[in-house]
Amino acid sequence: MANVSEFVSRLSMKVAVITGGAQGIGEATARLFIKHGAKVVIADIQDDLGQAVCKDIGLDSAMFVHCDVTVESDVENVINITLAKYGRLDIMVNNAAIVDDGKLSILDNDMLDFERVMRVNVTGVFLGTKHAARAMIPARRGSIIMLGSVSGSIGGIISHAYSSSKHALVGLTKNTAAELGQYGIRVNCLSPHFIPSPMATNYVQDHPDKYSKVYTNLKGILLRIEDVAEAALFLASDEARYMSGHNLVLDGGFTVINPAFGLFARASPIE
Ligand SMILES: NC(=O)c1ccc[n+]([C@@H]2O[C@H](COP(=O)([O-])OP(=O)(O)OC[C@H]3O[C@@H](n4cnc5c(N)ncnc54)[C@H](O)[C@@H]3O)[C@@H](O)[C@H]2O)c1
Repeated sequence: MANVSEFVSRLSMKVAVITGGAQGIGEATARLFIKHGAKVVIADIQDDLGQAVCKDIGLDSAMFVHCDVTVESDVENVINITLAKYGRLDIMVNNAAIVDDGKLSILDNDMLDFERVMRVNVTGVFLGTKHAARAMIPARRGSIIMLGSVSGSIGGIISHAYSSSKHALVGLTKNTAAELGQYGIRVNCLSPHFIPSPMATNYVQDHPDKYSKVYTNLKGILLRIEDVAEAALFLASDEARYMSGHNLVLDGGFTVINPAFGLFARASPIE
C-alpha cells in the first residue's frame, strides 16, 4: 500500500518560465515548482536579486535571465534561451506586474502613468503568451498562467490603471485559450486577493494588517504568497489538464459575497 505521506512530484520533467520571479509570488512559485521537479527560468529586471534567488534555490534547477517584459526582444530571448538549454517549454507564468499610486479622482490620473501600467501588466503578458505559444505550438502541449487579481473581477479596490489591466488579462486569457486549445495548450488566469507582498505593502503603506482584514471574507486565514504558488502549481500540473480559459479566483469568497447586506451580514468594522 502507498504511503499517504509520500511526496508526489507534480512537475517532474517540466520546464517553466516565470516572469517577475525575483521576489514575491513569482519567487514563491519558482521555489514550489522546483520542489516538484521542474526546471525554472526566472525572467525579471532585478538582476542581482534574481541571480541571488537562483543561487539560493540551486543553479542546477533555476536560471536567471534578464528580461523586461515590455521589450519584445527580451521576451523572445528568454524563450530562446530556455529552448536552447532545456529543449522544451511546458509552463509560462506571466507574473510580472506593477502598480501605480491610487489617486482618488480620475482627474488626477496621468495618461503616462496609465500607459506605463498597461504596458507591463497587459502588453508584457501578451508578449509572454505570444512567445510561449511559439515554443509550445510545435510541441502541442503547454500551460500558460496569467497572474490576475480580484481587481480584475470587481471595481473600486485599486487604481484605474491596475484594475483595467487585470480585467484585460481575463479577456486575453479567454481569447488565447480559444485559439491555443487546438494545440493542446491550456491558458488560465489566477486571481488572488490582497497579500502583503512588497508590491502590495508599498501600495498600502499605512496599515497592511487593516487591509488584510477588510479584504478577506474567510475568517481566521490570511492569504499567503505560498497559497498562490500552490494554485499556480495546480494550473501548471496535469491535474488541471481539462482546465482552460478559466479565471481561478483565490479570494476566500471576497468577490462573490457582499457582506453589507443579506442573511449572513456581519461586516466587520474597520479598526
Ligand atoms: N500582492 C498582492 O496583493 C497581489 C494581489 C493580486 C494579484 N497580484 C499579482 O501577482 C503578481 C505578483 O505580485 P507580487 O505581489 O509578487 O509583486 P512584486 O512587486 O513583489 O513582484 C513583481 C516582480 O515583477 C518584476 N517586474 C516588474 N516590472 C517588470 C518588467 N517590466 N519586466 C520584468 N519583470 C518586472 C519585479 O522586479 C518583481 O520582481 C502580479 O501580477 C500582481 O499584480 C498581487
